[in-house]
Amino acid sequence: MNAFSRILLDWYAEHKRELPWRETKDPYRIWISEIILQQTRVAQGYEYFQRFVERFPDLVALAEADEDEVMKYWQGLGYYSRARNLHAAARSMNGVFPRTYEGVRALKGVGDYTAAAICSIAYDMPYAVVDGNVYRVLSRYFGVETPIDSTQGKKLFASLAQEMLDEKHAALYNQAIMDFGAIQCTPQSPSCMFCPLADSCSALATGKVNLLPVKQHK
Ligand code: ADE
Repeated sequence: MNAFSRILLDWYAEHKRELPWRETKDPYRIWISEIILQQTRVAQGYEYFQRFVERFPDLVALAEADEDEVMKYWQGLGYYSRARNLHAAARSMNGVFPRTYEGVRALKGVGDYTAAAICSIAYDMPYAVVDGNVYRVLSRYFGVETPIDSTQGKKLFASLAQEMLDEKHAALYNQAIMDFGAIQCTPQSPSCMFCPLADSCSALATGKVNLLPVKQHK
């Protein structure tokens, strides 16, 4: 395992957030959590998730529900197409959640990021997630100044993320880097004094922590 992921996994063991969707490997629940977290912060998504899976505990319960009721459980979260897509996808699955990346990626409302998150977290498949947290951690640690919203940047960060992924612990690694970005390597004033990656962080060494990641369109 590379030093970067070993340090992240150690950090995660100590600092991970206890979240309801982390107590399960049920792909249904992980799917619901990832759809909520596409546009909703963890703190707000938490309660919605709990109520949603209590009322719709599995694929069949969701598929058999009326759309009006599903929408009611989404009320206040916004981006309502997420709920309509969830419901339509549940009805398309015939009670069986897909077991392959391609099958998961083909679900309505699931893009590259969400497919990688579901397959790594539920099935431990070696797909690296790339979200805002991951861009920030990788750009700072490796000192990458390529804009994250350029075609070249997207490719570069996707391959860097895949290279760093600890393939034997994909579920842990992906959640570790997301939490690390959310808690330790924050957008504003990260506490680099107490960072376990400080010794080998390129941005810290060159004084560029606050300049990374670079975005070409602000
Ligand atoms: N954001 C999106 N997915 C997440 C997850 N599984 N854990 C923490 N933050 C997330």
